[in-house]
Amino acid sequence: MPIEESGDGMRISVVGCGYLGAVHAASMAELGHQVVGIDVDERKIGALNAARAPFYEPGFEDLLARTLATGRLRFSTDIADAAGAAVHFVCVGTPQKRGEYAADLRFVEAATESLLGVLAPGELVAGKSTVPVGTAGRLAELVADKVPGALLAWNPEFLREGFAVTDTLHPDRLVYGLPAGSDREVAERLLDEVYAPIVAAGTPKVVTDHATAEMVKTAANSFLATKISFINAMAELCEATGADVKQLADAIGYDDRIGRKFLNAGLGFGGGCLPKDIRAFMARAGELGADQALTFLREVDNINMRRRIRMVELAREVCDGSLLGKHIAVLGAAFKPDSDDIRDSPALNVAAQLQLQGADVRVTDPAAIDNARRLWPQLDYADTAEQAAASADAVLVLTEWRAYRELDPVAFGKVVASKRVLDGRNALDREAWTAAGWTYRALGRRAG
Ligand SMILES: NC(=O)c1ccc[n+]([C@@H]2O[C@H](COP(=O)([O-])OP(=O)(O)OC[C@H]3O[C@@H](n4cnc5c(N)ncnc54)[C@H](O)[C@@H]3O)[C@@H](O)[C@H]2O)c1
Repeated sequence: MPIEESGDGMRISVVGCGYLGAVHAASMAELGHQVVGIDVDERKIGALNAARAPFYEPGFEDLLARTLATGRLRFSTDIADAAGAAVHFVCVGTPQKRGEYAADLRFVEAATESLLGVLAPGELVAGKSTVPVGTAGRLAELVADKVPGALLAWNPEFLREGFAVTDTLHPDRLVYGLPAGSDREVAERLLDEVYAPIVAAGTPKVVTDHATAEMVKTAANSFLATKISFINAMAELCEATGADVKQLADAIGYDDRIGRKFLNAGLGFGGGCLPKDIRAFMARAGELGADQALTFLREVDNINMRRRIRMVELAREVCDGSLLGKHIAVLGAAFKPDSDDIRDSPALNVAAQLQLQGADVRVTDPAAIDNARRLWPQLDYADTAEQAAASADAVLVLTEWRAYRELDPVAFGKVVASKRVLDGRNALDREAWTAAGWTYRALGRRAG
């Protein structure tokens, strides 16, 4: 059933209701629009229609319940329900291709093709997925060819998991990658109407072409990844020299040209965006004959992956040189706190390596255990940090959930067999843990 005509807001469809799309759909309804979210996953659509979040995201379930109750939001598996929307957001996944660095565009292509059946002249397809530069131009030609008068823009998304609701409703900038010519104005007007309260709030808006908008997203992620790997490279040097990476980061971070954000040395980045986005960016640069421009990203990636190996080595070191039969508690499975996303999770990667090397690993996480169990059924799981750490020979804090940052080292020391803690995120209070009798080790820092 197409979206009901209404005097209220615009009619909007959101194709792909994962971490990005589901939050986007509910947020657009919050702004007053009539929204239908479409996904091919029946289970996800069933949950969303029942006001159950299919993933953990702070504040999302409340927003979902609130906006469903207004009648302005609904979810469907039938693309025909997108008919009549003025703007169709494409929010499907763009994972890394198996065995290659390039992005797998099958889902973006399938979603766009499915929209062609419902699209009408004057309507706008607005891509939000992260895509290799050149994708929007290609899809715009397809749209113009099949539905003359329909438009395509690229409107990349910068939300952070864990802050997705706030980031969607209060973004730090809007980027519109618009078609050329007279279509440009129409597309800009439609996006301005969608984001009217956000535009009115004075949010910076960058209006540009398709290619620049696509590159803004991958360039931003590459910069962030580089900053993280920079400090992690410094951590490697600190390990070789006995210097302290945390103090180093504090000291260089006071320089406001550098800034302290994203300078936390540790286990490095993971998740469904940064790793695959920098790899896809390198692959695309290669296709364009500009691969030299991005060879540094290969090193950024290598530094990042080396941190995981170093963490396993550190665990072996504190376990008297052998992991065999050692009971290791891993606190954290999600790739970052406040999320249940385990895509390319450094924590799970380390946990699996420890297990493969003979350790008896027990993993816990406040939100991601079910996802982790599905992907890594061979690991053992516990509901709480205390259960995971019972009689442990070492405790590894690999995702900096607040609950782990705030653990009481005195009380926690009573459950383990040996008070050895590895702070994979430089997130614990070293002095408090050492004062409680723990051997404290962290990446880039002297033994405590
Ligand atoms: N997750 C983030 O924090 C974030 C932030 C910014 C940008 N992005 C980008 O947004 C895109 C989506 O990421 P995500 O994390 O939401 O992925 P996701 O895997 O959580 O969600 C993708 C959804 O698309 C659905 N889908 C696939 N093919 C479909 C089709 N043909 N029609 C309808 N639905 C279809 C899937 O069933 C799934 O629910 C990616 O390009 C990602 O890089 C993600």
